[in-house]
Amino acid sequence: MSPMRLAVISRGRECTEQERQLADLLAVPLLRASDPMAVQVPLYVLLRAKGITLCSNEPLGPRHGLIVDFSSTRLHNRQIDRFRQQNLAKAIGLKAHRTLTVIDATAGLGMDAYLLACAGCQVTLVERHKLIHAMLADGMKRAQSNDGGSDGNRAGILARMQLLRGDIVRLSDQLPRVDVVYLDPMFQERGRTARSGKGMYLLQSLLGDEEEDACLIRAAAALARRRVVVKRARHAAPYADQRPDSHYQGSSSRYDVYHSHQAMRSRIA
Ligand SMILES: C[S@@+](CC[C@H](N)C(=O)[O-])C[C@H]1O[C@@H](n2cnc3c(N)ncnc32)[C@H](O)[C@@H]1O
Repeated sequence: MSPMRLAVISRGRECTEQERQLADLLAVPLLRASDPMAVQVPLYVLLRAKGITLCSNEPLGPRHGLIVDFSSTRLHNRQIDRFRQQNLAKAIGLKAHRTLTVIDATAGLGMDAYLLACAGCQVTLVERHKLIHAMLADGMKRAQSNDGGSDGNRAGILARMQLLRGDIVRLSDQLPRVDVVYLDPMFQERGRTARSGKGMYLLQSLLGDEEEDACLIRAAAALARRRVVVKRARHAAPYADQRPDSHYQGSSSRYDVYHSHQAMRSRIA
């Protein structure tokens, strides 16, 4: 039997219905905080008033759990830091177009999708991992009902974000085409703040190492009218060895751009 990697932990006097439902959805045990296993399981989920929180018992894990919070200071700073001049916005093509329709096909914690929605894009977020999808849905719901934060029109921004659960490779023939498909499939070393590094560490230990698969770019190319953008660590090889047409490189990451014309679709084999 494989060792338990993840559990939902209940800290209340009684387990709640939501805790039971989440444990069922994730097909993981629901433990009471007093259970000796609760301090041994590497990763655990708490349903706290401020949201679904992923926590770690591992020595390198962050002290505070990971939560999707669209009012976080780091996000706000990146936002006001003239997002349209940043590499992600340039790679997506926001310089030439005021608004774009985008599928963020590897949504994760939704940070990039939120920035794109802040810049006026209509963003469809696709996330296949049940827990990450649940955390993201929870974060979006809280942000919608808690408008008027530091970024003003948060409800308007959230209205431009639509979240779907599933694998983009399987969903691609059910979705309408959009201007741009954005992929950030891998957890690589990036971001210099301890906070983002530890958050990414937690997610990486949840997901494990994932194989690179050209199917992902093929599915994206089938959906993109204009381009596919893939985020990579600065010095990483192109995703699944698919050579991009151009790229935008920053201090820790790089955005590879595949122009979405017929030639690209046949080239990405
Ligand atoms: C590095 S994270 C994305 C981080 C995101 N850009 C952000 O700003 O928070 C990668 C995510 O993509 C998801 N993912 C990977 N392959 C996928 C696929 N084929 N379909 C849908 N989601 C996928 C993983 O579950 C993971 O949550």
